[in-house]
Amino acid sequence: MPKRVFIKTMGCQMNVNDSDLMARALASAGYETIPTPKGADLILVNTCAIREKAEQKVYSFLGRLAALKAKNPGLLIAVAGCVAQNQGDAVFSRAPHVDLVLGTHETARLPELVRELSHGRRKITATRFNTLIPETPFPPAPGAPRKVSAFVTIMQGCDNFCAYCVVPYVRGREMSRTPEAVLGEARGLVSSGVREIVLLGQNVNSYGKKEGLPSFSRLLEKVAEIPGLLRLRFTTSHPKDLSPELVRAFAAIDKLCPHIHLPVQSGSDRVLKRMKRGTTRAEYIEKAAALREARPGIAITSDFIAGFPGETEEDFDLTLSLIETVGFDSVFAFQYSDRPVAPSSRFPDKVPEKEKARRLNRLLELAGNISRAKNEALVGVVEPVLVEGRGARDTGQWTGRGPTNRVVNFDAKDAPPEDLTGRIVTVRVEKGLPHSLWGQVVPGGSEGTFRREESHAA
Ligand code: 5AD
Ligand code: SF4
Repeated sequence: MPKRVFIKTMGCQMNVNDSDLMARALASAGYETIPTPKGADLILVNTCAIREKAEQKVYSFLGRLAALKAKNPGLLIAVAGCVAQNQGDAVFSRAPHVDLVLGTHETARLPELVRELSHGRRKITATRFNTLIPETPFPPAPGAPRKVSAFVTIMQGCDNFCAYCVVPYVRGREMSRTPEAVLGEARGLVSSGVREIVLLGQNVNSYGKKEGLPSFSRLLEKVAEIPGLLRLRFTTSHPKDLSPELVRAFAAIDKLCPHIHLPVQSGSDRVLKRMKRGTTRAEYIEKAAALREARPGIAITSDFIAGFPGETEEDFDLTLSLIETVGFDSVFAFQYSDRPVAPSSRFPDKVPEKEKARRLNRLLELAGNISRAKNEALVGVVEPVLVEGRGARDTGQWTGRGPTNRVVNFDAKDAPPEDLTGRIVTVRVEKGLPHSLWGQVVPGGSEGTFRREESHAA
């Protein structure tokens, strides 16, 4: 009987992708992935350390596993990801029932270390940083659900050391995979039925710079040439490194979707400087305008931190005014949170919790109103939707994403009654909701490849 693993993934897309790679590695060692912890021989918790709350969630989840371990002492518990990398052995003192602490650069060793644990070795910590991104020799796990969209890691780590951020300490220095490795993986995914590739990295704009590899834009061109690929996306970009060449790529590469996630964090130059972002409000506004000129209708989304140490009411007003000026399609915002390894945890001028919360709410309210208005303005527009599958609640409905990455749920009464998954269908938008669109399939509009002129102008 195969052994069973339950994988709990917390955090960003990088972790989602790492969990997938670990599931494959475990499958090759005879583990079947199951959807709940019940009956598992191994529980793998892939963790996030970006904010204090994320870390608290990890420990409260681990706490709940103590009872399972007490009932079944043979159960193995592994903690991977950013909390594992950041805390190493300290994880064992806060959660003594954990067996393995696996760092962000050691994921490929998971099957080997689990084997050692099943042979009686106790408490292993593996948190060395490597200098090479391990390639992934493991095929997709048998029986894994068919994917329409897949991630491909192109680089990992970050050299920017923004004052508040834990990432450089838990993901290490920037390292890029070769174009050959990226293309090989992308081609394999497309030939297995994947229609959309999302290139992943903490800072994709500096892809290959250190290693002297072809530029990120060149890589986008090469991936876009893969026959059968319908859409290409990437995340995350740093505004400081957004090059004119990349802006041009949005005009030149049809398959590259009109969406960019470009975290700005604050609208005040004084705060940006203290955050060590290496860019200014004016530069950001200029780059957003250049992107919109290169690709009319491009969706620009961003991240913000509310209540960074020393942020005054005036600084915060500048953030609100930047949100209005740029008109973001969607915004993620977070209350500033001290990360002990990051320098801003030692800044003396902290903003009180209550005030941070007030600013966050105000920011989210403004950004939410703008997103909703943009979604409402799309009513009547025909969106080419890459179908991801059936809707969650109602089996008569389908769900997918438009080019700008908006979720589009739709009815397909007038479409042929076959499985639309993995197809691009045209949907007329009937409702613009706060976080998604709703519409109806345009009869005869399914099939076909993604063409740029099909994307709307917002
Ligand atoms: N406190 C609050 N938010 C943070 N982020 C990163 N570090 C912190 C922190 N210490 C946010 C940034 C980043 C996103 C992934 O998380 O906005 O872009
Ligand atoms: Fe963190 Fe800054 Fe690197 Fe982004 S660019 S991962 S915020 S250090």
